[in-house]
Amino acid sequence: LNLMIDSERGIPKHSLPSDNRQWLLVSRPIGIPQPSDYELVRGPIPALEDGTALIRNLYLSIDPAQRGWAASGTNYSTPVMLGTPMRALAVGVVVESRTPLLPPGSCHYGWFEWQDYCVVAPDRVLSRADPERAPLSAYAGVLGINGWTAYLALLRLGAPKASETVLVSTAAGAVGSLVGQMARNLGARTIGLTSSREKMDLCTGRFGYQFAIDYRSTDFAAKLAQTCFDGVDVYFDNTGGTILDMALRHMRVGGRVVQCGTAAVDRWDPPPTGLRNEREVLTRRLTWRGFVIFDHLSELSEVMTNLQRWLDAGKLVYDEDISAGIEAAPAALTGIYSGVNRGKRLIWIGDGR
Ligand SMILES: NC(=O)c1ccc[n+]([C@@H]2O[C@H](COP(=O)([O-])OP(=O)(O)OC[C@H]3O[C@@H](n4cnc5c(N)ncnc54)[C@H](OP(=O)(O)O)[C@@H]3O)[C@@H](O)[C@H]2O)c1
Repeated sequence: LNLMIDSERGIPKHSLPSDNRQWLLVSRPIGIPQPSDYELVRGPIPALEDGTALIRNLYLSIDPAQRGWAASGTNYSTPVMLGTPMRALAVGVVVESRTPLLPPGSCHYGWFEWQDYCVVAPDRVLSRADPERAPLSAYAGVLGINGWTAYLALLRLGAPKASETVLVSTAAGAVGSLVGQMARNLGARTIGLTSSREKMDLCTGRFGYQFAIDYRSTDFAAKLAQTCFDGVDVYFDNTGGTILDMALRHMRVGGRVVQCGTAAVDRWDPPPTGLRNEREVLTRRLTWRGFVIFDHLSELSEVMTNLQRWLDAGKLVYDEDISAGIEAAPAALTGIYSGVNRGKRLIWIGDGR
């Protein structure tokens, strides 16, 4: 995308449409969400109330977690109600305000849903986005939940020490690409799992991994055993399923498993069956902890300071995969589950409606 930037404030040029397009969730996805689970509707711009601001969305975030938010089953949050806008994070700019906390012209990242406009109270905002400090899109990725998750889940739960071995699934993705670089900067031996030669090269050439393995290759088990010959101290798991089952069998005694995502499991209802892993946990004395970024929002100022510092120093690189036009959102979500994304997936909706 070649966006015109308002040179004074760093905000990409955008119009203010006279109506609001919204993607509504119209059916509960069975397994992976499909475009047919959503309907694009057009309506009036929502009205302001005291204590709220009108946000014009610019970047809509596409996150694997949206599958869980749209499903009716087990999750850490209540399901999105049918007929309502799809729950989503986004970056936008305040165009009108009745709260001093969200002044006109300020940019924010928060729960603004898949739509052009959103009326929000300040508690729907996760962070302020400063377009003069970093590109606005970065606030929905490396400076958003992807960067926060990589930082906190790795440093707090995984806590790798220098020369320990860190294994990561979805290693070429928005979270995994950052985990690799952070672990490497801590002096760990890093191994990334991903789905193709192209992504393996990104892992080893760009994202801090010393080794990369294609989990779809027929000799995956042998390659995993060979590369993890000395055992794994930290497994940062974003997939669950058989990749996790196999990784557990290479954990060292006292190893830590960070359960950050379950991208490889299509559905949880009915619960999938597979290998039993409790004996691995017991005999290897593993610590297996779940992580949800929304439990850690009070820690963000330290996280943002460090992420920004590493970005400024060139110690952290990131890729973005940006499509244009709100129409692209549902298919972009479906595509993430077959790995077609190259980096953080976003939809730019500022111009070209
Ligand atoms: N717990 C939290 O608070 C939290 C917060 C943010 C993200 N996450 C989790 O972090 C993980 C990565 O999220 P992200 O936003 O950075 O997305 P991402 O990695 O940029 O994109 C998702 C990737 O998942 C992989 N994938 C999809 N289907 C798969 C399957 N069946 N088996 C194995 N891999 C599969 C694909 O990569 P390959 O090409 O490598 O297969 C795809 O590119 C997700 O599991 C997400 O839920 C958790």
